[in-house]
Amino acid sequence: MTGDSVTRNSSNASLAEPALVESTFDSGKARPSDFALFFQKFLSKGLAISSAVPSSRSLVEAVLGHVDFTRPSTIIELGAGTGPITSEILDLLRPHHRFVAVEKDPDFCEVLRRRFPGTPLIQGDASQLSEPLARMGIHEVDYVLSGLPTPNLPTRSQVQLWRWLGRALRPSGVFVQITNAPLVYRRFYERLFRSVEYQMVWMNVPPGGVYRCAGPRRHLSRIGH
Ligand SMILES: C[S@@+](CC[C@H](N)C(=O)[O-])C[C@H]1O[C@@H](n2cnc3c(N)ncnc32)[C@H](O)[C@@H]1O
Repeated sequence: MTGDSVTRNSSNASLAEPALVESTFDSGKARPSDFALFFQKFLSKGLAISSAVPSSRSLVEAVLGHVDFTRPSTIIELGAGTGPITSEILDLLRPHHRFVAVEKDPDFCEVLRRRFPGTPLIQGDASQLSEPLARMGIHEVDYVLSGLPTPNLPTRSQVQLWRWLGRALRPSGVFVQITNAPLVYRRFYERLFRSVEYQMVWMNVPPGGVYRCAGPRRHLSRIGH
């Protein structure tokens, strides 16, 4: 994966928006500066960011309600942004878990590295995860928690993402997807998974929700072939 980096330690790389990034440094919780950075990214990148603000606490709780932290598991977070979900995951992690965050935007990655030093972070495209995860010794996963604008990704990226998921998600595994377009994509996920549940989350800007998807359909690992 060209240009990707797998990071376990904080980095001193230069920052595009130093003032914004610096003030998010010392807290795991969302800060006003997160909103400013997010909004700035949304204005410049639109659908590639998908939301104008980070996920609310209610949305984060709805996502993590689908994760059984009492069991050993490998958890992958896609599209971590400024880290509202990452922060809560890290609070709940135990030694029997493995966790990797994935984020494409370099400025968001810088925030994540500085805020969560030591947390495994793949800076790169979520549709190209096989190789970087394999280098970390991860071939199977139990939970994939996605903040990606999944239905808006280019077709080729979606194909690669679903193919990886179809191969890597354990039979008991779960894919959790946040959305800020309530219920609009239910059929989209039902074509990919045998079980799809939707939970509305009103306390978010805009109101959103969470899909819990399990049982990838048989064609998922061969999609696009
Ligand atoms: C709606 S935001 C969610 C951010 C955060 N998880 C939250 O809940 O506030 C979507 C995130 O996905 C990231 N993203 C979009 N496309 C991506 C891709 N192909 N690979 C990795 N991250 C991507 C964006 O940079 C952005 O941080």
